[in-house]
Amino acid sequence: MSPKRIMTIYGTRPEAIKVAPIIKALEESDSFESLPVVTGQHKEMLAQVNNLFGIEPVRDLEVMTANQTLNGIVAKVVQGVDGILEEFKPDAVIVQGDTSTVMGAAVAAFNREIPVIHLEAGLRSGDINSPFPEEANRKLTTQITKLHLAPTAESKGNLLRENVAEEDIVVTGNSVIDALFTTVEKQVAFSDPKLESFLSTDQPVVLVTTHRRENLGEKMVSISRAIRHLALEHPEYRFVFPMHKNPKVRSAVLPQLEDLENVLTIEPLDYGEFTRLIGASRFVLTDSGGVQEEAPSLGKPVLVLRENTERPEAVTAGTVRLIGTDFDRIVEEATALIDDEEHFASMANAVNPYGDGQAAERTAAALKEFFGVGSRLTDFRP
Ligand code: UD1
Ligand code: UDP
Repeated sequence: MSPKRIMTIYGTRPEAIKVAPIIKALEESDSFESLPVVTGQHKEMLAQVNNLFGIEPVRDLEVMTANQTLNGIVAKVVQGVDGILEEFKPDAVIVQGDTSTVMGAAVAAFNREIPVIHLEAGLRSGDINSPFPEEANRKLTTQITKLHLAPTAESKGNLLRENVAEEDIVVTGNSVIDALFTTVEKQVAFSDPKLESFLSTDQPVVLVTTHRRENLGEKMVSISRAIRHLALEHPEYRFVFPMHKNPKVRSAVLPQLEDLENVLTIEPLDYGEFTRLIGASRFVLTDSGGVQEEAPSLGKPVLVLRENTERPEAVTAGTVRLIGTDFDRIVEEATALIDDEEHFASMANAVNPYGDGQAAERTAAALKEFFGVGSRLTDFRP
């Protein structure tokens, strides 16, 4: 059989991190020809990841503009991907997760009758408006997907409840754990000397990230005010806040935090540096999906700055708590982790409900089965 042409289409930082192990596995297999394509929904934050993993996309749609709108992104992705599908005629298209790139690329492939393979399938918060628009994007993508690669048994259960046929689902584990395991062990140096010296003392470090669309504005100001309060109350602690490139994040965060000596607001970190920073932190405050998956794996307590989550596994395991964006609640929950050693210890458990580092291998095997040239491996179980 001539190699099947697999086009992996992605556009944002987390997608790039999570498809990198899959693209590497496709490159290594004689059964596939790998065609990575980026929509460029993100620019600098996407290039950081492709550079780190040594991935050179065959095309870049360069869709990103400042303050881009959801419909603006989707329209450009559908149109641009359509042309690339016409040019390359892939045998299947892989998309990962729930961004506007994912939904747009899946629709474009579906309309050309090219099978859609969905990585990280089946995550559900249960609220179509939160996270917005991601819950809708992943449900829409499910409808037009032929092979659903679910990270966990829970996500498979969500798909079965929506009447997806069981034989079309493979539980692979989340490829973010593949990426994390291979990256964190390198213990790369921090390129910013301010960060290196900030971390060179014995003072405990708290890592903070925020970017969710539904948290922009007042909620992000509330989060930042809470960090300010905690930093002033606990001068013995240091807070590191790698800021998303979105100018709306910076306008909420910087006025609250840029004058404080024990808070470092910095540019997005290269993935290698970021994973090292997670490892060097005492605990994490975040509204990120990927960070919710990675930090538990490194035994770091996570306070999630959201009202709900599509990643309940680490909440069940006790390493993650959902705390929302209210100022008092954030201060109360973080203070408990700072002051109460027993409470901290009860959350600081290394748990791996999201993967075992073999997701790329399971994905390649599932693809071989899909094309009739092999069989799937045993499903991931924590
Ligand atoms: C997007 C995804 C979200 C994902 C997040 C990961 C959608 C609707 N949202 O949200 O699901 O969790 O990525 O980070 O798909 N920008 C830059 N340079 C970059 C990246 C972003 O300048 O490298 C700025 C641009 O002004 C851009 C803005 O950030 O307009 C917002 O980017 P966008 O992709 O629309 O939204 P995110 O919040 O990043
Ligand atoms: N990340 C990174 N550098 C940073 C912040 C985050 O490499 O400065 C990584 C992080 O380890 C995780 C991913 O980016 O794998 C999460 O991206 P983001 O929070 O933007 O998106 P989400 O996961 O919420 O969709």
